[in-house]
Amino acid sequence: MALVELRHISKVYRLGGEEIRALDDVSLDIASGEFMSIIGPSGSGKSTLMHILGCLDSPTCGTLQLDGTLIHDASPRQLAAIRNRKIGFVFQFFNLLPKLGVLQNVELPMVYSGLSARQRRERAMEALRLVGMENRARHRPSQLSGGQQQRAAIARALVNNPRLVFADEPTGNLDSHTGEVILELFRQLNREGRTIILVTHDPEIAAVTPRRIEIRDGKIAPEADATLAGTARFGTGAPASAAAAP
Ligand SMILES: Nc1ncnc2c1ncn2[C@@H]1O[C@H](COP(=O)(O)OP(=O)(O)O)[C@@H](O)[C@H]1O
Ligand SMILES: [Mg+2]
Repeated sequence: MALVELRHISKVYRLGGEEIRALDDVSLDIASGEFMSIIGPSGSGKSTLMHILGCLDSPTCGTLQLDGTLIHDASPRQLAAIRNRKIGFVFQFFNLLPKLGVLQNVELPMVYSGLSARQRRERAMEALRLVGMENRARHRPSQLSGGQQQRAAIARALVNNPRLVFADEPTGNLDSHTGEVILELFRQLNREGRTIILVTHDPEIAAVTPRRIEIRDGKIAPEADATLAGTARFGTGAPASAAAAP
């Protein structure tokens, strides 16, 4: 079974008297261990799709199954609990809390975990080691470069060992060299078995992932060779037909 199964998802925003169909009958499978990108121009529906896949928002209609659980009519509180356990997020502007140190920022997702303070600290340090930031644990975000802030944010996204990691334009606020270093970090984290989904408008960034899905006007374009590459690399069942067919 796929890690994520999205079926006939639509999302309609109502603004004043106007209806905006941000997603229009989207179906998609994501296998455990995949490294994929969601690409499309600004306004095409990428963030909306990520918000639904990541349980940040609910669709207007359609179903989402995540890790064997049907996410249906979940309350905002239930969605928050699912997110906290199963999903990590990385954002363009890092979203670190400026008044907290790096270590405290990385510890945040574990607040409701039931772990002791000492266990939380150990896990946060381990996550910081994974991204090469263990020697910056005592710094404030403002004392770090953009690339270091993004590494800290990635450590925070990983600390609960989520089933899925989403990164929405994670290099959008970095110079191109630093951006490449961050992409290489995602590649390494995927090689270690993590499922990673990059959201980007930039084809050069999407080119680093074995599988790409393209979204236009709220619809997924048919997957071509990109999916074959992903299937060959991972040998998992995330067939193009099942993913793209309505
Ligand atoms: N909260 C919202 N309320 C109303 N319209 C929205 C909202 N969020 C997004 N939209 C609209 O939905 C469409 C898709 O937006 P979005 O998913 O943010 O696209 P992308 O991330 O690809 O730029 C756009 O037309 C956008 O204006
Ligand atoms: Mg967006």
